[in-house]
This record gives sequence, C-alpha cells and structure tokens, in this order.
Amino acid sequence: MQEEQTRDVEKGIEVTSPRGADDILPTEIAGWTRAESLARDLFERFGYREIRTPMFEETALFERGTGESSDIVQKQMYTFTDRKGRSLTLRPEGTPSVVRAYIEHKMHVQQPLQKLYYIGPMFRYERPQAGRKRQHHQIGAEVIGCADPATDFELIYLACQFYNVLGLREVSVKINNLGCKADQKTYASRLYDFLKGRADRLCPDCRTRLERSPLRILDCKVEECQQNIQDAPLITDVVCKNCAKHHASVIQYMKDNRIGYADDPRLVRGLEYYTRTVFEVVHGGLGAKDALMGGGRYDDLVEELGGPKTPAAGFALGLERAMMALTSEEIVPHTERRADLYVAAMGDRAKQRGVSLAMRARALSFKVIMEYGNRSLKAHLRSADKAGAHHVAILGEKELERGVVVLKDMLTGEQSELPLDGFVERFIKMLTDETGGPPVM
Ligand code: HAM
Repeated sequence: MQEEQTRDVEKGIEVTSPRGADDILPTEIAGWTRAESLARDLFERFGYREIRTPMFEETALFERGTGESSDIVQKQMYTFTDRKGRSLTLRPEGTPSVVRAYIEHKMHVQQPLQKLYYIGPMFRYERPQAGRKRQHHQIGAEVIGCADPATDFELIYLACQFYNVLGLREVSVKINNLGCKADQKTYASRLYDFLKGRADRLCPDCRTRLERSPLRILDCKVEECQQNIQDAPLITDVVCKNCAKHHASVIQYMKDNRIGYADDPRLVRGLEYYTRTVFEVVHGGLGAKDALMGGGRYDDLVEELGGPKTPAAGFALGLERAMMALTSEEIVPHTERRADLYVAAMGDRAKQRGVSLAMRARALSFKVIMEYGNRSLKAHLRSADKAGAHHVAILGEKELERGVVVLKDMLTGEQSELPLDGFVERFIKMLTDETGGPPVM
C-alpha cells in the first residue's frame, strides 16, 4: 500500500487525506481553538482537570468497556496488530481510556472524587457524511466517584453552558432514565417478547441485536425498525424505585435551574455501559439523528474494568458538529488575529534593521509579519493587505540614510515618519495617543 502511494506520488497522481478524515485548515482553526479554550476555561471553573490518554489502547479495553454488542465494537473500530502481535485499537471514544487511567494510577487513593476532561481525536469506521467522520474530535468530561444526581445535572448544565458561551441558540436537551443493570435485564426480556413475533420486519442488524442485546434496537436508524418499535414497552415502566428516585432528583435540579429538557423514553444511546441517566443535546441545524453531545451515568464500568466499585458519569461533545451548528446559525466562529504591523524592508541593510525591529515589536506582544525575499514595495503592500495588517513599517535605503521609518496606516492610507531608533516605543506611544489608552493586544 505504502509502495503504491509512493509510486502514485512519483507519477504525479494526487494523494488525498483518508476518507472521512479531514484537514482543519488555518482559515478554520480560529473557530476550533476558540471552542477548545472556552471549554478549558469553563470546565476548569467547575473543578475539572485535564487528562490526556493514548490515542490507541489494547483492543480488549473497548470490547469490555464500550461493549461487545455496540455498533462501535461490532463494526467501527480501527484495530491492528503491532509488531509483537498485540491487538491494538485507535480509540473510538474516551470514556474507557479515562476509566482505565483512573484504575491504573489508583487515582481514587489520591482523591476519591475525580473530575476530568479531555480534548482530542477519536476514530470510528463509519460511512462518512456531513457531521459523521472517521476521525472526529471530542471534548469530554467524566466525574468518577460520585453517585449523587447533582452530578448528572452538573454535567448536563456544563454542556449547555458550553454551547451558550459558544453562541449557539438552537440547542435542546433530551433525557431518559435507563435504570440499573437489573432493570435493563427486565426491560430487555420485555422488549424481546414484544419484538420476537416481528423479527422478520427488522433489519438484519436488528435481528442479531434481538438475540444479543434488544435495547440496541431502539437506537437503530433504519426507518422500518423505528416503525416496529413505535408501540414497544418503555423502559420507564420497569425502572426500580431507587433509579426512579434518582431520575426525579435530576429532573428537579433541571427545573430548579430552569434548564429546558424533553423526556425521551426511547433514548438508549449506542454504548453499553450506561445506567440510570442518559442524555443528549441536539441541534436544529444538524438533522434529527445527529446529536451535538451525548452522555450519561455508568455506575458499573469502573468495577467491570477491574477497579473498585465506583459510580461515575460523563459526556462527550463532537467538535465537528459544534462547528456545523455554528455555521447553520450563521455565527462566524472567530476570525484570525490581524497583524498589528507588517515590516516592508527593501535591500539587505534595511532587511537587517527590519528583522531586529520586528523581533522587538513581537517581544512586546505585537503580531508582526515580515516577508524576507527581495520584493518591491508594491508586493509588500499586497502581502500586508492579505495579512490584514493595521500598519506597515516601510524601510528602504533612503529611509536608512535618513534614520527614519515610514509608517503607513492601512485603513486611512495616511503616511507618517517615525525615527528608526526607538521605533517600537514611538509606535506604541502613537497608538496610545490615538486611542487614549494602551494598545489592545
Ligand atoms: P457518543 O455519543 O458516541 O458518546 O459520542 C459523543 C459525541 O461525539 C456525539 O454526540 C457526536 O457529537 C460526536 N461524534 C460521535 N461520532 C462521531 C462521528 N463519527 N463523526 C463526528 N462526530 C461524532 C461517547 O463517545 C461517550 N464516550 C460519551 C460519554 C462520556 N458518556 C459518558 N462519558
């Protein structure tokens, strides 16, 4: 494969990024970094601390964590064997990795309650389309060590708050109670009884799901399967008293804090570890099936992965989908910082002085662009315009001889002269006099 690609390159045939894995270009990056820094700032204010786990893990972690019967494990993992024959998988989601790290580093010994967040790429072999990528990026939060329903609420609130600061308006919350594993077992057998007579009307995947894990059928995207579960029993009919009480408390927090939500008794989510609360945030601009974010409680996972019995809950949101939602609401994410100064130096001696001048201005926090080739003033001005530079410092042989820099204001076109020695300090003074305060950088 490698050889083939190399040959293609030699023949001049285009090599593109892998299907479903996109480049994020410099023109787009400002929106991404803005979203990431808003999340960091917000999550840290709530006491979450960042964790970075490897991009690949032993395959068994996801088989046991994400769950054997989930679509992710069944169909979507990028699994490979390394040179020593170990089976490894590019992480399709962050939760199992965070729980593994929690157990491996005995994090509960330092502090029983761990509030963690992560930002990074995830990999799923899905059919690529808008908002559905083979490499996508998530911002996730996990609270390990707390069974209190206030945690479930805090997580939902945190996600809503993130979308709020991002500027999105058309978001809504869906919430359901999946009960404990015992409730899910009871429900699975009720669902099985309901659907077994209609198995021939289910898609091939759902026929398998019916035998292995009937709950997954509720999550099937095939229209006919959705029709067949219209009158299916609801999980809310079977949840035990304790789980019902937990859910009622989460709902009360939502009401007390005026967070709008819709009860969705068919929301099961595609991952196997959930217990009690599950939730999603959806957006009007993404289409009915695509969630901006999803999460829930997973009180058994830490123990199932070999740790002490520890309740936990979390969520993850997709960054590609957040960017799509911003576009659909016509919110321009954030533009690149414009250059404060462009240094147009012509001739070798002027270039040397120009380089020092640019370095000095950058040390004082200005964004300064300088292009080094032998270029005409006209070419420099074109580049300065492209960089959106506010000012251009023009320095040629003539200016050097006179010990000045010609400063051009790109907005008004006005030109003035400042002494070359101490130029940056005079430039700052000029900006301060113009605005009546120190320059905003
Ligand atoms: P998930 O629902 O599988 O949950 O993914 C979370 C979010 O990632 C989705 O709501 C969506 O925005 C985004 N996403 C997922 N797959 C793709 C894709 N192929 N292309 C683009 N975006 C995608 C989880 O991953 C759980 N680990 C969430 C969680 C954390 N539950 C508890 N803690």
